Amino acid sequence: MSVGSKLRARFLLILILLTPSLSKRPNIVIVLCDDLDSQVGGANASTLKYTHQWFQESNGILPNWFVHTPVCCPSRAQLWTGKMFHNLRTQHAGHEGCMHVNVNATASSPFYAHDYFAPHFRKLNYTVGFFGKHLNTQNPTDFIPDGVDQWLVNGGGAYLNPSFTWASRGSDPVPINFDNCSQSTGMPCYSTSVIGNASLAWIQRHVQSSPLQPFLAVISVKAPHLQDGPGFPMSIPAPWYENASITEQKAPRTQNYNLSCPDHHWLVRSQPPLTKKQGEMVDQLFTSRLKTLLSVDDLMIQLVSTLKDLQMLNETIVVFTSDNGYRLGQFRMPQGKFHAYETDIRVPMMIRGPNVKPKPSLVGTHVDLIPTFLGLALEDSSQAIVPNTMDGTNLAAAILPSGSALNHVPTKKSLLIEYMSLGNVVRYQHLEDTYNHTFLALRILDPNAKEEGLRNLKYVEYRDSREDWNCSKPPLEVELFDLERDELEMHNLAETASPLLLQALSMKTLRMFHCKGESCRKEQRRALF
Ligand SMILES: *[C@@H]1O[C@H](CO)[C@@H](O)[C@H](O)[C@H]1NC(C)=O
Ligand SMILES: *[C@@H]1O[C@H](CO)[C@@H](O)[C@H](O)[C@H]1NC(C)=O
Ligand SMILES: *[C@@H]1O[C@H](CO)[C@@H](O)[C@H](O)[C@H]1NC(C)=O
Ligand SMILES: *[C@@H]1O[C@H](CO)[C@@H](O)[C@H](O)[C@H]1NC(C)=O
Ligand SMILES: *[C@@H]1O[C@H](CO)[C@@H](O)[C@H](O)[C@H]1NC(C)=O
Ligand SMILES: *[C@@H]1O[C@H](CO)[C@@H](O)[C@H](O)[C@H]1NC(C)=O
Ligand SMILES: *[C@@H]1O[C@H](CO)[C@@H](O)[C@H](O)[C@H]1NC(C)=O
Ligand SMILES: *[C@@H]1O[C@H](CO)[C@@H](O)[C@H](O)[C@H]1NC(C)=O
Ligand SMILES: *[C@@H]1O[C@H](CO)[C@@H](O)[C@H](O)[C@H]1NC(C)=O
Ligand SMILES: *[C@@H]1O[C@H](CO)[C@@H](O)[C@H](O)[C@H]1NC(C)=O
Repeated sequence: MSVGSKLRARFLLILILLTPSLSKRPNIVIVLCDDLDSQVGGANASTLKYTHQWFQESNGILPNWFVHTPVCCPSRAQLWTGKMFHNLRTQHAGHEGCMHVNVNATASSPFYAHDYFAPHFRKLNYTVGFFGKHLNTQNPTDFIPDGVDQWLVNGGGAYLNPSFTWASRGSDPVPINFDNCSQSTGMPCYSTSVIGNASLAWIQRHVQSSPLQPFLAVISVKAPHLQDGPGFPMSIPAPWYENASITEQKAPRTQNYNLSCPDHHWLVRSQPPLTKKQGEMVDQLFTSRLKTLLSVDDLMIQLVSTLKDLQMLNETIVVFTSDNGYRLGQFRMPQGKFHAYETDIRVPMMIRGPNVKPKPSLVGTHVDLIPTFLGLALEDSSQAIVPNTMDGTNLAAAILPSGSALNHVPTKKSLLIEYMSLGNVVRYQHLEDTYNHTFLALRILDPNAKEEGLRNLKYVEYRDSREDWNCSKPPLEVELFDLERDELEMHNLAETASPLLLQALSMKTLRMFHCKGESCRKEQRRALF
């Protein structure tokens, strides 16, 4: 070999070593339920059997996943932007926006123009499809957000004969009604099936036409949310499951079910007991919720088999979660979310895919999902890849086998929970939300804290949003729970706790309420003392 060809060979070798492997980035599928709990029999119900088993097979069920705001629109807004509620909300308590999220259905709304997740995936060559419930309101009907290629969305809508706004990139959005199933099937169109069929057909078409381009699909179903309306609204199962028999007959009688709590904040301590009739209504709602999940389980079966048929199962990360938790009779409140209790803020989180080996101890929230998907797509576990608009953490180090060098795993020791009241909300004659039920809470999960009493806490400050929108005045009331000893939050320790502890909790809560980007990530990792 001449010197020249030797050099050329060495040069080529270096080139080969430097060229990043052209292997395709993983596809991503997010299956998002509405109001599915992880604490009162929802996510492990017999009616989600396949889903549960499929994720369990690969140890993909994460028990410590939270939302920062236990109600639909703020929680979804946080998921789609990676931003915390205090950085998304309106400046004043008003009716603008979506449940106090500062968003409107125009392309210039900062929510769509600056904060939205889709352009970050577009930059990585993903095609993005969004199917089902997006936000409750303020969903674009005359444009589709930048970075999205296929759009079939509504604000939750109806279980039966649902309507959506449809568009694909370059086409004008049009309203589309699925009210035409009876002729061919003898039954009305059912929301979960419509969303499932449309999303899976899109995945199929995409893989067949552009096998080398990764896709991100959001499949966002209404189930098991109740069908809003007058009277005694319940969740509506698919017509073919109307009479399905299911194992569970009654909402779980947890120890805090129908419990009187005179030491809790005003809204809870003034609850009358659930009447026998109200108890029966809660049980009916519970079973109607579980029946809607039969169709979600069917959707998961079809999703996995579609991916198998397309030979894409080994190239796709699938996540299954919910926008907030749910309560069924706990603390005498018949049903709903809105509260700082574990039932409301913990959500199911299941994940499976190539290279996905999550640490079971992983603590995460919905603002981390998009940063983490970017981390998984780039196989990069550093925080440098998190877009600077986002407050969330890239948790890829706790999921990728290669990223698991212990010192790189970002451990979240405290989470801010924040909620601005929606006003008076009454369920079965029980007041469950009101203006002075606006709160900031700190959820501490620090198993290595030196003092035993500081390992597993919740601290909550209640204010009136009409008087103190920015939480700058002292709280009206405070709650403190030691979840190590009292996991059902039945004993408020605020009266007897040391003033030093309460002060430290309060200061940390306010620091987190003012955090942004890197300061959020830092403050969450910092121990209380
Ligand atoms: C779901 O979890 C609850 C609480 O851990 C448990 O009591 C219940 O039996 C579980 N249900 C099923 C169907 O596994
Ligand atoms: C809350 O704080 C923001 C930012 O400092 C300010 O613009 C806004 O006017 C305040 N809102 C109220 C109701 O005080
Ligand atoms: C929507 O938000 C944009 C940007 O903040 C603003 O310019 C516009 O006036 C708003 N439109 C409506 C209809 O509220
Ligand atoms: C119903 O209408 C939708 C929208 O036009 C269409 O995509 C779908 O195929 C129709 N379904 C049936 C069963 O005709
Ligand atoms: C969609 O999927 C369901 C199964 O979930 C099926 O029963 C239904 O016939 C399909 N087609 C339509 C138009 O809904
Ligand atoms: C990007 O997607 C196209 C399909 O649209 C594909 O042909 C191409 O290889 C992809 N590029 C990269 C760098 O993955
Ligand atoms: C369910 O049961 C009711 C009452 O017996 C009956 O009217 C209805 O047709 C049944 N639905 C199905 C899908 O079998
Ligand atoms: C709730 O507790 C009260 C007693 O405090 C009891 O009378 C009532 O029957 C209970 N309700 C249910 C649904 O268990
Ligand atoms: C996934 O499986 C298909 C078919 O078995 C194979 O062609 C493809 O290379 C696999 N992809 C990866 C990333 O292993
Ligand atoms: C909260 O508001 C209600 C009226 O809506 C009032 O009765 C109650 O005393 C208030 N509680 C606190 C702690 O301010």
